[in-house]
Amino acid sequence: MYFDGEFRRYEDARIGLLTQGLNYGTGCFEGIRAYWNRERGQLYGLWLPEHYERLHRNARALQMRVPHPVEELCEITVELLRRNECRETTYVRPLLFKAAEEIGFRLHDIPDSFAIATSPMGDYVPTNGMRCMVSSWRRISDTMAPPRSKCTGIYINSALAKSEALQAGFDEAIMLTDSGHVCEGSGENTFLIRKGVVSTPAAADNILEGITRQGLIHLFREEMGIEVVERSVQRSELYGADEVFMCGTGAQIAPVVEVDRRMVGDGEPGPLTLKVQELFRRAVTGTDPKYAEWVRPIW
Ligand SMILES: Cc1ncc(COP(=O)(O)O)c(C=O)c1O
Repeated sequence: MYFDGEFRRYEDARIGLLTQGLNYGTGCFEGIRAYWNRERGQLYGLWLPEHYERLHRNARALQMRVPHPVEELCEITVELLRRNECRETTYVRPLLFKAAEEIGFRLHDIPDSFAIATSPMGDYVPTNGMRCMVSSWRRISDTMAPPRSKCTGIYINSALAKSEALQAGFDEAIMLTDSGHVCEGSGENTFLIRKGVVSTPAAADNILEGITRQGLIHLFREEMGIEVVERSVQRSELYGADEVFMCGTGAQIAPVVEVDRRMVGDGEPGPLTLKVQELFRRAVTGTDPKYAEWVRPIW
């Protein structure tokens, strides 16, 4: 672990039970993947600066302070992955939280702690065809807490939706906004494709502004010559879509083959989804030199 200025063993990086970040969810985090390329014997950290820029932005919204500038955070991450001798696809978890151990909560004038952990990670959700349900839980709205903040506390919203879906026998939940528009999965952004047009819920519809989402918009436009429309999406559009998929650092690109027990397209991952999945795979494993700037070799 990296914890408050030092590298420490996981069991030596401890916090007290009264820590405010734990009791009140006053923290924010990131999720980063580093992809192992077996042929090259190389690990590639994906979009490190983009993730740390988002952490800085979110920290400001929550009146917290990340104790290092973006470039330093990237260097610490590289060092941590090396110290942990990561030679497989790995998840990196930076976490900033209110560290005071006292009852009561506020955002201002409370010291923050900052940690980074790593953990091996394969598929977070099935990537060969997910069955999804529209959740009975609505995604939190910007009038309640900042949905784009990756604030630890608001993940109760995601956990409620995820458990509901899994316990009902589905692979993942799709949450609607308060006003009934399609928002996102419990930890993934959503895309749908109809008649060759790709659409994805707009940032103002309370989504987390996903970094994978942004990368895929780029791949669709630049590599496939396909327009992507960021707009409000209605629930029944999912039922009539030719293709639906979800994406995120954990989920990567996960085709959706069923929504609310209705088959999407012909019930198989669609051709444009498979194509963008392959372009993405090549870019993030450092295989496509055109996307060398997306990745940072660790070794
Ligand atoms: C709620 C939520 N939406 C979307 C995403 C996808 O964002 P990103 O592509 O930046 O990982 C995540 C994952 O971080 C998430 O937790």
